[in-house]
Amino acid sequence: MTPKIDASALRGDAPTQPRASRSADAPVGDPSPGAGTARATGKVILIGEHSVVYGHPAIALPITSISARAEVTMTTAPSRIDSELFHGSLAAAPDRLLPTVTAVRAAIAAVSPDAQVHVRILSDIPSERGVGSSAAVAGAVVSAVSQALGRVLTPDERFDLIQDAERAAHGSPSGLDARAVCAPGPIWFQQGAIEHITVGAALHLVVADSGVRGRTREAVAAVREVRRSAPSVFDAAVSSLSALTTLARTHISAGDLAGLGAALNAAHRHLGTLGVGDPALDHLAAAARAGGSPGAKLTGGGRGGCVLALADDPEHAAELVARLRAAGAPAAWTTHMEIA
Ligand code: MEV
Repeated sequence: MTPKIDASALRGDAPTQPRASRSADAPVGDPSPGAGTARATGKVILIGEHSVVYGHPAIALPITSISARAEVTMTTAPSRIDSELFHGSLAAAPDRLLPTVTAVRAAIAAVSPDAQVHVRILSDIPSERGVGSSAAVAGAVVSAVSQALGRVLTPDERFDLIQDAERAAHGSPSGLDARAVCAPGPIWFQQGAIEHITVGAALHLVVADSGVRGRTREAVAAVREVRRSAPSVFDAAVSSLSALTTLARTHISAGDLAGLGAALNAAHRHLGTLGVGDPALDHLAAAARAGGSPGAKLTGGGRGGCVLALADDPEHAAELVARLRAAGAPAAWTTHMEIA
């Protein structure tokens, strides 16, 4: 059975736009001809970020309480985007929107190269926090654009188009985010392929925002630089992260929270060695551990962004949210994996 995820935003950033739908995976609704609507969720990486870029495995799961939604109509005017960040023609969009513009262009090129579209984006996923904003926006956009142009993408076509946008976002994406934002539950990811994982005991997780912008492109470049300048440090850290990811899967299957927590704590240390830590992340991870979390680590690219903390049960997760908020996190979410 596919593991089910239920996530609730306890204290998320106040949405600045209408909330995206919580309904199932993209596409959404029964569109009229020439129109498409789709959504993709936020995601959190449990373990394996950065080592995944070098072909090692990673485990990720959706945060279904935050999502991006795209509404698209065909038009005869030049293609246009309306989003929180920008209103105007595709051609005039600022550099910051390059991944979104790439997603629109890639979907048009794949389905109907001469078409023009009007794309509206609604998202409550905070950007630059390592919770999948760029991949989710791209996922919603490519599905809605192709749907408006008369085609429903296969999962692999959708993945390839999101990857085009992710390459514009940060150069050499592993594909983990592109898969995770479209997944209905936790995934084991390696080299583009995904497997579902067995969950032996319910797993309660808290994701807390450090308030510091994460910089995935710089973080991935920093790790590449460690690989160049200190190969033995890189090799030791990456093979440890790879082994810890495999161990985490075993602990998840066995329902061993203490073992999983220890693996998460160790992964946090190795990510620090690779140069993607940040004092704000160390501070929040330490606050979670002081609050009884069996394990806490940075999640996503690092150098800012979010921490992930394991909780014993839903009540403990709520306590950790309060503790992390008191420790300075501007927002936190919970998510859990059910036994499956
Ligand atoms: C970013 O969310 C995850 C990284 O491993 C980069 C990637 O997988 O492409 C840091």
